[in-house]
Amino acid sequence: MALEKDGRDGFTSRFGIICAAAGSAIGLGNIWRFPYVVGESGGGAFLLVYLGFILLLGIPVMLSEFVIGRRGQRNALGSFKRLAPGKPWYLVGVMGIVAAFMILAFYSTIAGWTLEYVVKSLTNSFADKDASEINRLFVSFHTQAFWPLFWQIIFMGMTAWIILSGVQKGIERYAKILMPFLILLLIIMAIRSVTLPGAGQGLSFLFRPDFSALNSRVMLAALGQAFFSLSIGMGALITYGSYIQKQNNLGNISVEVSLADTLIALLAGVAIFPAVFAFGLDPADGPGLIFTVLPNIFQQMPGGYFFAIIFFVLLSIAALTSSISILEVVVAYLTEELNMTRRKATIMASIAATFVGVFCTLSFGALGNISIGGLSIFGLLDFTASNLLLPLGGLLIVVFVGWYMKRSDVKDEISNSGSLKARFFDALMFILKFVAPVAIAIVLFDSLGII
Ligand code: PFF
Repeated sequence: MALEKDGRDGFTSRFGIICAAAGSAIGLGNIWRFPYVVGESGGGAFLLVYLGFILLLGIPVMLSEFVIGRRGQRNALGSFKRLAPGKPWYLVGVMGIVAAFMILAFYSTIAGWTLEYVVKSLTNSFADKDASEINRLFVSFHTQAFWPLFWQIIFMGMTAWIILSGVQKGIERYAKILMPFLILLLIIMAIRSVTLPGAGQGLSFLFRPDFSALNSRVMLAALGQAFFSLSIGMGALITYGSYIQKQNNLGNISVEVSLADTLIALLAGVAIFPAVFAFGLDPADGPGLIFTVLPNIFQQMPGGYFFAIIFFVLLSIAALTSSISILEVVVAYLTEELNMTRRKATIMASIAATFVGVFCTLSFGALGNISIGGLSIFGLLDFTASNLLLPLGGLLIVVFVGWYMKRSDVKDEISNSGSLKARFFDALMFILKFVAPVAIAIVLFDSLGII
């Protein structure tokens, strides 16, 4: 355990940080959310916009979060309070904590489904089923109350348990080992998928942009997906940034984590869409997409029984390394600002998140008729957190670093007090001051009809 001057936990190795930050970024967002949002948003054109947003907005926002966290040496809210004493900037941290609760609520729903699919794979439930039977299996599972809630609670319990074992031991150890296996498995699945008869249609859906599919709703969906997938806009990476040691290169970490995250999303896309078309399924099927598509691929693979088990186990672990980073936002705040013990903070926060999560899970079944502004409870939480709060948080974060913080302080953080060259610094500041705020504001406010 590395204790810093003020007694805070920290990451001890560069590898540990990369794994933890990548562990946060890589999760259900890449493998579950990315394909279904691409599917609902018309494919290729969305993908191009998404990639543009990652490069132009995502990496700069991620770097800004690390800068705020490492300079502030506190949780998301506390870092703003320290860097801007007496100013309302800490409200960005408050927003982040609200977003963290919302995301945990629906994240644990989907992670729960993933755990159920571990069991379904173990019990060979997809054997000899065609696409419509696999679909029925999913519908009859996720619309009931008991098992989805059961798995949701298990998942939240696992998240809380990891958080309780402390920053370094907890996060570093679990994130380290498994991501390379996930990548390998996705490559194998992608190969099977693109060699299915009829796969070509899926590839052109994903890679041939149809620009007539672009509108302000799709742009906002791409922005929300980019931020959700990179874990930015709500202070998760401010919190992690505060655990990063002074000699680590924040710019490199941001680029590497973003690239790894994007690679995995693309692999997931290449695994899913060819199969969607090959099995005659609907790309715009919504949040159930991977659960109705992937079992069909495993069916068509030699050794598919084992691949399915390993895949859903790895996906559950990827979900865990993300959910711990979300819960950590709240726990770090409660312990540092309200002086709660880590134990009490973790238990309270996970119970509160599970409480909201129950409504979210039931919104696929018993509470399915509740509709708010045309959205289910799940849809409302996801839309509000991912498409509104994260972009708004990201906007304020780049404005904070670009305009409020002293340029020399930002440079100090990015260049590790001058020991790194940071040749890109001027370009970065230009993006943080002008490009990113304007672009995020346009996409966000245009889609809300404000401009
Ligand atoms: N980035 C995670 C994923 O792609 O699954 C989800 C996430 C984690 C979102 C942490 C936001 C966050 F702060």
